[in-house]
Amino acid sequence: MKLWAGRMSGQIDDKLNELNASIGFDSRMIQEDITGSLAHATMLGEVGVISQSDSKAIVEGLRGILADVQSGALPIDMTAEDVHTFVEGELTQRIGDAGKRLHTGRSRNDQVALDIRMYLSGQIDRLIALSRELISACCETAKQHLDTVMPGYTHLQRAQPVTLAHYIMAYAQMLLRDIDRLTDCKRRTLTMPLGSGALAGTTYPLERQRVCELLGFNAITENSLDGVSDRDFALELLSDLSILMMHLSRFSEEICIWCSWEFKFVTLSDAFSTGSSIMPQKKNPDITELVRGKTGRVYGDLITLLTAMKALPLAYNKDLQEDKEALFDAIDTAALSLEVLAPMLRTATFHPENMRAAAAKGFINATDCADYLVSKGIPFRDAYGITGQLVRQCVESGQTLESLSLEAYRTASEAFDEGIYEAIDLMNCVKRRNLPGGPAPEAVLKQIETVEHKLEE
Ligand code: ARG
Repeated sequence: MKLWAGRMSGQIDDKLNELNASIGFDSRMIQEDITGSLAHATMLGEVGVISQSDSKAIVEGLRGILADVQSGALPIDMTAEDVHTFVEGELTQRIGDAGKRLHTGRSRNDQVALDIRMYLSGQIDRLIALSRELISACCETAKQHLDTVMPGYTHLQRAQPVTLAHYIMAYAQMLLRDIDRLTDCKRRTLTMPLGSGALAGTTYPLERQRVCELLGFNAITENSLDGVSDRDFALELLSDLSILMMHLSRFSEEICIWCSWEFKFVTLSDAFSTGSSIMPQKKNPDITELVRGKTGRVYGDLITLLTAMKALPLAYNKDLQEDKEALFDAIDTAALSLEVLAPMLRTATFHPENMRAAAAKGFINATDCADYLVSKGIPFRDAYGITGQLVRQCVESGQTLESLSLEAYRTASEAFDEGIYEAIDLMNCVKRRNLPGGPAPEAVLKQIETVEHKLEE
């Protein structure tokens, strides 16, 4: 029987029931639904809208339901319309008439808005904790590779020398910004909508501020029409998670490339690799391919809700029910991705010798060669031209800047002396890039310390 059965005669169509029901997914919010009702019932009793004894009976009944949900003693009735209906029905079954007073001054429209905000706030905390864990893994890996020279790339072409520590910490920086965005999103999510009623508030003298305090929200919503129909906080979370997944997909792509035999910068531990059913030699980085692939789902979830919200007239419309599956999918996907990447990184074996070999082949010290000439008084543009000729000479003769004879250098420019070899040594090239934010080991160590300090806050 539906809550609203009084208005209708006759049964509702089975297919409409299937379309309309949300219990299949909104039962995830059952704890929040009960907690919200506990606050509402407490306040109703305090202001005298219902009697103290009814309020007490409701609170005790709801606590019993909550305990049974947590212990698994109470199975969810999947024929109920939604989680709100289920909890209210169960309460009335347990405590009788007092249960029928719980919904006084409330609508499922403000109730569901409250439930989602509470649920998301808890999930934001979880996502932040998981992001911090991945940042910690980045810091740990980086500390072991402050001196691991590798090529930095632009256009995926070897460009200038950096270190693995510096590379990994670039991803830690992205994740720190993700945490910042999630924290900001949580602040707006914790605005309390109860008291908005179906759309036009209520005639009962509800103490909205009291419910806000009981539930630990920051403020109450200031317009009842907006209170029931606003999902900006949900869109913000989906946007934040889309950006987070974009970061994880970039990191995943690096790992996929680095696992290839062409690069072999890293080998993933067996626990985080898969094989092929036909090719016995294969060890595949499915984990990072999946994270890369799943990024599209989260973008899709954002577009789903943006589209559901587009051109919605005030106030509540059933389209809003479509928010939940998109949110849950995005949260699950982002959480699982974060959960697998941290231990994958911690157990991965990097190959500094292959990184160094790649760094040695790409003329990534050519800028340093030019800078050396600049230090000898040659204008940069001329130094650039001379170095370019030397690189061409190396490419043609199969040499590197390191193996080129001093004679060859001096033929190109009288300004060269034996100091050039020290100047183009890859580790020296990295060490000289010691500005704040640079790849020099001391600069990266400072970066790691700053990040770890932020994590402690
Ligand atoms: N299941 C609904 C949702 O998720 C709850 C609100 C229903 N309100 C209504 N007037 N039918 O949005």
